[in-house]
Amino acid sequence: MHAVAALTAAGAALVLGAATAMAQGPQGQAPQGQTVYVRAGRLIDPASGRVSENVGLLIRDGRIVSVGVATPPPGAKVVDLSRETVLPGLIDVHVHLTFNAEDAGPKALTISIPRQAIDGVHNARKTLMAGFTTVRNVGASHFTDVALRDAITAGEVDGPRMQVSGPPIGATGGHADENLLPEEFNYESDGVANGPWEARAKVRRNFKYGADLIKFMATGGVLSHGDSVGGQQLSQEEMDAIVTEAHLWGRKVAVHAHGTDGIKAAIRAGADSIEHCSFIDDEGIALAKARGTYLDFDIYNDDYIMAEGPKVGIEPASLAKEHLVGQTQRDNFTKAVRAGAKMAFATDAGVYPHGDNARQFHYMVKYGMTPMQAIRAATTSGADLMGLQGRVGCVSVGCYADLVAVPTDPLKQVEVLEHVDFVMKGGVVYKGAAGETP
Ligand code: ARG
Repeated sequence: MHAVAALTAAGAALVLGAATAMAQGPQGQAPQGQTVYVRAGRLIDPASGRVSENVGLLIRDGRIVSVGVATPPPGAKVVDLSRETVLPGLIDVHVHLTFNAEDAGPKALTISIPRQAIDGVHNARKTLMAGFTTVRNVGASHFTDVALRDAITAGEVDGPRMQVSGPPIGATGGHADENLLPEEFNYESDGVANGPWEARAKVRRNFKYGADLIKFMATGGVLSHGDSVGGQQLSQEEMDAIVTEAHLWGRKVAVHAHGTDGIKAAIRAGADSIEHCSFIDDEGIALAKARGTYLDFDIYNDDYIMAEGPKVGIEPASLAKEHLVGQTQRDNFTKAVRAGAKMAFATDAGVYPHGDNARQFHYMVKYGMTPMQAIRAATTSGADLMGLQGRVGCVSVGCYADLVAVPTDPLKQVEVLEHVDFVMKGGVVYKGAAGETP
């Protein structure tokens, strides 16, 4: 277990190591060698839960080098956020940057792979501007996510730091497959695998083409055609094979699972996170707690699907499935919070429009978290799940200088996070540099 954790962290270091070099932003404020001084009116440190007033942060080469510096050193570029509340850049551990909410149902078939890659460029920027400086992209077609991650790392595209899964692995006819075409088209999605060895081969193939982690589909889904949302779609041995293989590589596994049995099978297999968790029962929550498995509930989605689904082409059968999932998932979120399970901020952006990620904070607080817990889910916990603790989602020495700021206190009203007015990633200001003095 420890060896796996260590390897995972090493893998992640490789992935994000390159991100330090990308500190040169498109706005040309190359901070390499330059010192930036951020004056924060109020600073929220989610790791300790401490809130401090009038804090000076020193940033060099894209990282925080000191906290609590009273005055800017000579020659430093000053960013004045003295009227703002500053917190670490936010983390969403479940997004699909290469998919658009408006391309739902059969329309999705008309969106080519190259077009998905271009959509990803657009959506990466929206996500960054919304204050999400790190994301885990869990599901994309044909490695469009790898291309996007690499373009962002190279500084060619504005976007969050990304870990990506490549195509999700799943059974024929299941949530990972494409079920809208009749048999004569003879098409299956690139993540389809049946049996433990086929599944292991897909894990290896995904790593070969650049994935950081594995995503697999343990149960049916809402937006997939022709399956039952709660039904288990992979056997225990298939799940065991996928997780064992991924962990051999020192990488993590995220599992799509709505159904009670599929959730438990995935936790028993050793998955690192369960996504959706809709019909989780008490035993499932207890199992997750015992194994340290993250439970990632995307509890904003229901609003968008129910309100906009019919307009954007979501099938009536999917709307009926969403009807089964919506409130139950929110109630089970409350149970998981009360039980003290590990939980990260995960929204499934791409099902709803990118950039609206922070709308989920409202629901996380409404259904049982304190604002500080919700912020921690989107910082400390997201970083821990991604194996990036001490590098992202934090505001201490050594962390990347990924910061957001809001005009009022999110601990009093968490919804203010829907409107961040300042975004810095790796020491580069992407949004709201107003008030800075050269
Ligand atoms: N991608 C997910 C699926 O198709 C979306 C589920 C959305 N619904 C929800 N209540 N979270 O299954």
